[in-house]
Amino acid sequence: MTPDLKDEVRRLTAAGLDRRCVAGGLERAAALTLEINRLKKERRAVIAAHVYQSPEIILGIGDFAGDSYKLADDCRRTDADAIVFCGVHFMAETAKILNPSKKVHVPSSNAGCSLSEGVTAADVRRLKAEHPGAPVVTYINTTAEVKSESDCIVTSANAAKILRRIYRDHDKVIFLPDRFMGANLARELGKTPGKDIVLWNGSCVVHEKFDPGLIKIYRERWPGLAALAHAECPSELIKAVDFMGGTGDMMRYVESTNAPAYLLVTECGFGELARLRFPEKNFIGMCRLCPYMKSITLESVLALLRDPAPPEVTVPAGIAGRARVAIDRMFELAA
Ligand code: 13P
Ligand code: SF4
Repeated sequence: MTPDLKDEVRRLTAAGLDRRCVAGGLERAAALTLEINRLKKERRAVIAAHVYQSPEIILGIGDFAGDSYKLADDCRRTDADAIVFCGVHFMAETAKILNPSKKVHVPSSNAGCSLSEGVTAADVRRLKAEHPGAPVVTYINTTAEVKSESDCIVTSANAAKILRRIYRDHDKVIFLPDRFMGANLARELGKTPGKDIVLWNGSCVVHEKFDPGLIKIYRERWPGLAALAHAECPSELIKAVDFMGGTGDMMRYVESTNAPAYLLVTECGFGELARLRFPEKNFIGMCRLCPYMKSITLESVLALLRDPAPPEVTVPAGIAGRARVAIDRMFELAA
């Protein structure tokens, strides 16, 4: 092993990574992270990493890590020339809308999202025509075109707060595209789906399949269990857990409580990161992989940085301008 590689293995170990959480071993990961971090500096790029990415990406090469709200906020503050987005395409599009002069790249052509693909701008225009005057509140998991037809964007970290604020001035809101998140929020806010909140039929292929019946079984096995679920999960499951929120809220809940065991009902990368951040806590079962998130690897990031002209995320100026208004409204109302 060269001295540089030895140092990199030491750095990754100090960051909390070990061979149990790094595919193919630490030395393989270190060879890749060393070269990625060198090229990243050379290109004046930053790497944004969503918490569903693998720990070797988040801890080995990430400059910012977090939920979709934090990443959007971090990206709008960076002075780098380029953003390599280790997350899904709609997140990178949002970063591009917030940074029109920077290059934004996604190290995979398969980093879609079932929610984002489940609604079009034409669908939103039709809903607006059917419910005149109702503001369109849109989950960030949507395309730039859909955002451009919306009044305000939300993430799972701020949806309840922003909806409460919007209901002060409106009786009815169109919320899209996640029907489960919409129903969960309606319940939290005391609103009636179909009357006060118009929902769309979208869902997340990862979260929609969690089985609510399993929560009871886990509780029997682990007395005192804290069960946490992402707001994209079906309402029957949400009724059975102790906490519903976005990934940032879930991480803060784990940090600020002391349960004998935690059940994290969300994508597996989140649990891997929680285990590394809180090694003294006990995390059990229940997660599913997001195939879109997991299409990004250290190898794909390195290939992108080595490419002299890597594919860029682009958003037509007119669409970006209108989407930006809805995204800025989120920052204003979430503050
Ligand atoms: P968060 O904003 O909670 O990180 O969620 C993003 C996402 O895609 C969840 O499936
Ligand atoms: Fe989209 Fe679901 Fe994957 Fe999140 S977990 S990126 S909502 S498919």
